[in-house]
Amino acid sequence: MTAPVDPTSTVAWEELTSLGDGFSPDLREWFAEDPARAERLSFPLADLHVDLSKNLITDDLLAALVKLAEETGVAERFAAMEAGEHINTTEDRAVLHTALRLPAGSSVVVDGQDVAADVHEVLGRIEAFANRVRSGEWTGVTGKKVTHVVNIGIGGSDLGPVMVYEALAPYADAGIEARFISNIDPTDLAQKTAGLDPETTLFIVASKTFTTLETLTNARLARDWLWKGLTASGAIADNDDARTAAVARHFVAVSTALDKVAEFGIDTDNAFGFWDWVGGRYSVDSAIGTSLAVVLGPEAFRDLLSGFHAVDEHVRTTPLAQNVPVLMGLLNVWYTNFLGAQSHAVLPYAQQLHRFPAYLQQLTMESNGKSVRWDGTPVTTDTGEIFWGEPGTNGQHAFYQLIHQGTRLIPADFIAFANPAYPLQDGGRDVHGLFLANFLAQTKALAFGKTEEEVEAEGTTGPLVAARSFEGNRPTTSIFASSLTPKVLGELIALYEHITFTQGVIWGINSFDQWGVELGKQLALQIAPAIEGDESAIEAQDPSTRALLAYYREHRSA
Ligand code: F6P
Repeated sequence: MTAPVDPTSTVAWEELTSLGDGFSPDLREWFAEDPARAERLSFPLADLHVDLSKNLITDDLLAALVKLAEETGVAERFAAMEAGEHINTTEDRAVLHTALRLPAGSSVVVDGQDVAADVHEVLGRIEAFANRVRSGEWTGVTGKKVTHVVNIGIGGSDLGPVMVYEALAPYADAGIEARFISNIDPTDLAQKTAGLDPETTLFIVASKTFTTLETLTNARLARDWLWKGLTASGAIADNDDARTAAVARHFVAVSTALDKVAEFGIDTDNAFGFWDWVGGRYSVDSAIGTSLAVVLGPEAFRDLLSGFHAVDEHVRTTPLAQNVPVLMGLLNVWYTNFLGAQSHAVLPYAQQLHRFPAYLQQLTMESNGKSVRWDGTPVTTDTGEIFWGEPGTNGQHAFYQLIHQGTRLIPADFIAFANPAYPLQDGGRDVHGLFLANFLAQTKALAFGKTEEEVEAEGTTGPLVAARSFEGNRPTTSIFASSLTPKVLGELIALYEHITFTQGVIWGINSFDQWGVELGKQLALQIAPAIEGDESAIEAQDPSTRALLAYYREHRSA
C-alpha cells in the first residue's frame, strides 16, 4: 500500500500557510488591477464553462495549491484508480466507476477480467430491457403496458436516479413516469404508490448489497401492495402460482448480489448486475440507472455516460494547473484548511437540479467525512466540509442573508444554463433571462459587496449604514452551460466526483468506504426488539434511550 503523503509536511503547505497569514482578499482591487482576471481564471471543461475568478485566490496561491496536488500525488492516484489498483484499502477493492462510462470497444483488464467488456454487456441488456418496456413489448401480468416505474433503493441506489430523473424530466418521452421510494418510514411507500395501478406498475429494486434493511422492507411492502391490488380487483387468482407470475412481470432488480435477488423471488433473468468496484454513491451510471434508461430512453442514458467520460478524459489528460476538478478540489482545501470554512453551498439556478445538493451530500460527505487516512493513521488536518444548498432563487429568499452578511466564510458554487427547458414569457419578457439576472447579481454582490460610502451616497445615515453595507469577498465559482442536457448533467456529476477525489487524496483519505454508517445500522437492529417491548432489550439500553422508548410506548396509539 502506498502510504499517504502528509499534506502538512509538504513545501506547498508551508507556502500556503505563509500566504494565508494575514491574508486580506480584495476582489474589487484584484479585478480593477487585472482586467484579464476573469478570462485567465475561466476554464472550459467539456461543455461547461467554469469561472473561478471570483474565488479568493491569487496567482501565487494557485501555484502553491497546484504544487500541493503534485506533492501529494493527485495525478498518480487518479491513474492508479483508473488502472484498477485496490485504492479502496479498507475493503481491498478496486475503484472503477470511470470504467462504467468508457466507450464501447474499450478494454480495462483488472484482476484478470476485462471490466469494460462486462460493463457493455450489462449496458446492452439494460438497453434491450428499457426498449421492451418503452415499446410496450414488456407488459404487466395482465398484458397492460407499464405506465409507472418505481425505483426502490436508498443512498446511492436512490439519490442518483432521483436526481437525474428530476433534472432530465423533459427527456421522458415514452409516457412512463418514475417514482422513487427510499425511506423506511412507511409514509414514503404509502404516498408513492398512491394513485398507481398495480397492473401497469413496474418496481425496480436497486440495492448493491441486497441486504439493506430499508430497501428490502420496502420491496416486501411493495410486493404485498402489488398482490393485494391484483387479487382484490380479480386481475389475478389468489394463489401462490399467480403471485409468483405477478412478481416476475412487475419486479426487476439491480444488484451486485444476484444470489440474494433470487432468494427474494425475483427471476435473475430480470436482474442487472454491477460489481464491487462501484461504490454506491458512484453508481448512478451503472445498472443502478436502469429506471433512467427506461424512462428517459437508452440514448439519453448513453449521452449521460458520455458526459461523465468527457470529464474523466479531461482529468486524465489536462495539466494540473488547468485541470478544473483538481483546481476546484484545491480551492476547497484552501478554504477548509487555511481560511476556516466549514461548509460549501451548491446553488443551482435550475429548478430541475433541485435534488443536486442532496445528491452531492452523499457523494462528498460519505466520501470525505473521515478522520483516519487510507493507512489507518489519523488525518493531519480538518477534512470533509458540509455540502448543502437549494436552487436559486428560492435560496435567496431563505438563507442567502447568512452567506452575504454572516460571520462565516461559505464558498458557493453557482450552476446555470443559458437556455431553459421551458422558455416562458411574462408579458413579452423572457422569464429565464430574469432568472439568470439573479444568478449574475448574486455572484456579483457576494464578490464585490457594497461599501459604507456607497450606502451613504444613497442617502442612508446612522446605524443603518453598517446594516446595509456588504463586505464582499465572499467566494463563488460560476459553472455555466448552454442547456441541461443528459451529457451536460453527466459532466456536472463527474466534475464533483473528481473534486471529491482530489480533496480525498490531499487529505490522505480513502474516499470509497463508509464505515461511519455501520454503527447506527447495528444499533437499529439491536433496538428493534425494544421497540416491540422486549424487556431485556429495553434494559440493555442507556438511560436516555430507555426514557425515549418509554415515551414511545406511552404515546403510540396501536
Ligand atoms: O448506508 C450507506 C450505504 O451503504 C451507501 O453507501 C449506499 O449507497 C446505501 O447504503 C445503499 O446500499 P445498497 O445499495 O447496498 O442497498
